[in-house]
Amino acid sequence: GPVVAPRPGARVLDACCAPGGKTAHLLELFDVDLHAIDSDAARLARVEDTLTRLGLSATLAQGDATERDWWDGTPFDAILLDAPCSGSGVIRRHPDIKRLRRPSDIAQLALLQRALLDNLWPLLKPGGTLLYATCSVLPEENRDQIRDFLARTPDASEQMPDGIAWGQVSGAGRQLLPKVDSHDGFFYARLVKAGR
Ligand SMILES: C[S@@+](CC[C@H](N)C(=O)[O-])C[C@H]1O[C@@H](n2cnc3c(N)ncnc32)[C@H](O)[C@@H]1O
Repeated sequence: GPVVAPRPGARVLDACCAPGGKTAHLLELFDVDLHAIDSDAARLARVEDTLTRLGLSATLAQGDATERDWWDGTPFDAILLDAPCSGSGVIRRHPDIKRLRRPSDIAQLALLQRALLDNLWPLLKPGGTLLYATCSVLPEENRDQIRDFLARTPDASEQMPDGIAWGQVSGAGRQLLPKVDSHDGFFYARLVKAGR
């Protein structure tokens, strides 16, 4: 919440929203016009259930965030990209990840994350904020992904508000490693678009 911190009424996109934990959290923290998409219809139905149960509302749509056919053409003040990833930061809660993932998955996931970043960035207003996040501890999905994005995107820069202290600096983002009796592995980078 404090890392995105959208102003009241802001038009916000939650680009990979299901099952909706962060969608609900954003709506509980901020009075925003939230648009939430996910490519998986069954998982999106869980977002709808969660919002209904909590008495919250957002505009939900099934959509592929590497495409734009779901977009109405109006740019966003803020985008949350909680990207599909290896889940390497949450293995203790989902030990099957260790058995199911193949080394080749990481390069494929990195390509998908790259496509998501490149497709969503133009949908952001000048001065807008994109928060990239994964529950991974692998540099290919995190530090290196954001380093490469910044290198090919001249109007993007990393900007973290003062007082945000979670995780250790990892390139242009922050990496949290799993801790006993505490949080999972997680990465986030706050990217701001030039030109306002
Ligand atoms: C890490 S999960 C999101 C978790 C969610 N933000 C939350 O806090 O509950 C990643 C999501 O991305 C979705 N996804 C994968 N590829 C996608 C794509 N191309 N476009 C949109 N959503 C996608 C998956 O279906 C999955 O629900």
